[in-house]
Amino acid sequence: MKPKVYVTRLLPKEAMDRIVQFCDARVWQGELPPPKEILLEEVREAEGLLCLLTDRVDAELMSRAPKLRVISNYAVGYDNIDVDEATRRGIVVGNTPAVLTETTADFAFALMMAAARRIVEGDRQVRAGYWKTWGPMILLGQDMHHATLGIIGLGRIGTAVARRAKGFGMRVLYYGPSRKEKTEEELGIQYAEFDKLLAEADFITIHASLTPATHHLIGKDELEKMKRTFILVNTSRGPIVDNMALYETLRDRKSAFAALDVTEPEPLPANHPLLTLNNVIVTPHIASATVETRTKMALMAVDNLIAGLKGEMPPNPVNPEVFGKR
Ligand code: DGY
Repeated sequence: MKPKVYVTRLLPKEAMDRIVQFCDARVWQGELPPPKEILLEEVREAEGLLCLLTDRVDAELMSRAPKLRVISNYAVGYDNIDVDEATRRGIVVGNTPAVLTETTADFAFALMMAAARRIVEGDRQVRAGYWKTWGPMILLGQDMHHATLGIIGLGRIGTAVARRAKGFGMRVLYYGPSRKEKTEEELGIQYAEFDKLLAEADFITIHASLTPATHHLIGKDELEKMKRTFILVNTSRGPIVDNMALYETLRDRKSAFAALDVTEPEPLPANHPLLTLNNVIVTPHIASATVETRTKMALMAVDNLIAGLKGEMPPNPVNPEVFGKR
């Protein structure tokens, strides 16, 4: 008998094939996430759950899933899962680190460049028929080369961004819970206290996990401490930035810019005030969205799922201590 699993969205084919080879899988076919009632119903018999960052996997869900042994998240971030509750219940949780690092760093860099050089505004103007001539003052942006970059969170992705920045001759500051002396030395970057980074960086890019400590880490006070011409990029999790504070700042300070791949809420409603501003770019949480990377993420998520079902430590466990517990 194959173990029963529930998969909350269709994944790339290679991954789906592997799931059905090993599991008795029910798969949500919708483009939008399964509604909560369906998710709660579907997990009743499931031994494994392969879910997305759009699925809330909380204590209520786990209480409805007495046979659940593994939760495999198709994402590196896992703030959608109550990991403490999973651990208490002996359910192992897996995620998909490393495979999306370079792809996400590319995208963070692309957003910085798009904001600095006003690429989206330029495209909008051309399409609207405003391109009348070459002009000395048209769409002036900011140089990225040799500017100061502030990285909040020097994990895998933050480090990959730092590496790119050095290629642009940027001065790189970073802030995080711990010093990374080896990386500082290797890349020629510097640790900075949070307020110093906010005050000195021309560009700020966020690569932190969403936790109670990082919720609204960037709010009104922090935005006030930034340069008048700051460029803020977020490709991590939306709630790390207080979007309404950001809106008010950018509304009143046209020289500053934000480029957000993640927002609060997600999806950002089309009538959100942020979208009335020209000095904002918003993309729909696509930093890891390349064919190669999404396939690798899917295969990694399947490996985690299958290992967990076999009672083995998944290759990328979030709560390996579950095994000690079992
Ligand atoms: C993640 O993996 O956490 C990203 O947000 C989506 O790839």
